[in-house]
Amino acid sequence: MFPQSRMRRLRRNSSIRALNTEIRLHTDDLIYPLFVIEGENIKNEIPSMPNIYQYSLDNLLSAVEEAVSLGIKAVIFFGLPAHKDEIGSQAYDENGIIQQAVRLVRQQFSELVILTDVCLCEYTSHGHCGLVSGEGKILNDSTLTLLAKTAVSHAKAGADIVAPSDFMDGRVAAIRTALDENGYSDVAVMSYAVKYASAYYGPFREAAGSAPQFGDRKTYQMDPASGIRQAMKEAELDVLEGADYLIVKPALAYLDVIAKARESFQEPIVAYNVSGEYAMVKAAALNGWIDEKKVVLETMIGLKRAGSDMIMTYHALDIARWLKEEQ
Ligand code: PBG
Ligand code: ZN
Repeated sequence: MFPQSRMRRLRRNSSIRALNTEIRLHTDDLIYPLFVIEGENIKNEIPSMPNIYQYSLDNLLSAVEEAVSLGIKAVIFFGLPAHKDEIGSQAYDENGIIQQAVRLVRQQFSELVILTDVCLCEYTSHGHCGLVSGEGKILNDSTLTLLAKTAVSHAKAGADIVAPSDFMDGRVAAIRTALDENGYSDVAVMSYAVKYASAYYGPFREAAGSAPQFGDRKTYQMDPASGIRQAMKEAELDVLEGADYLIVKPALAYLDVIAKARESFQEPIVAYNVSGEYAMVKAAALNGWIDEKKVVLETMIGLKRAGSDMIMTYHALDIARWLKEEQ
């Protein structure tokens, strides 16, 4: 008790504070999302996500090059196809935008960890993550075949890790089985294991052109007010189905879920610091209301303290730059 005990002894100067640092952020922990769009000579900034762009294939390599030169070791690709249809056929087309992007980047960057988002919503005319029945119901089981086909086509193009974000039941098992049957047993599945029907995805839907044309995603993604037991059950099912990594998404409103997942599972836990979380920081920073660098680094430390092994974030390049400056 005070006065014998004085916590301020741990904070006396910057060297003592450095000695007492527990949470260390490293560029190796970061996964950088990139949006790839069909067409030529495109580099479109996303209005609600300053400094994040949609790249056509001819501009993609220089974007990847920049990330790699900053020490980023992993990127995840999201695709914007030229044509959408009811069954999302561009998602699993051998010459789809993602398949082309992966082949191109794989050729140039043999060491880069290439992840792909596996979902149908960017490719379907209705914007849902699965097939839709005549009555407007999102069909679970018939969607699984298409997701598996998509994952295999990404693996064939050279992806290291496929990341299903559709949130259909049974997708991890369907994808794992299809990968193994097609000779891709070394390709890992990073499942969006705990994914909420969140308002924080707003800017992403602008970036990926994937807003649902009717209804919402509440019949398949989790209710934000559902509790920790449902979250753990979702993650457990994915582990049993063969997931190698578990994503919790969004991150900041669900730090308790990250912490509990860390405690409950042996798989690496990935926090997805989503588009709306990025947009809020950027908006405040551009207004001069917060110190962007300090706020972002503090947020990332928080995600690590909660138990994230890796962080998917649109801030990745800035973080890598800041960490380099501090060396
Ligand atoms: C597609 C997908 C979404 C995100 C990642 N993959 C949007 C959604 O489910 O509606 C969100 C990412 C972000 O907001 O940064 N299923
Ligand atoms: Zn989707």
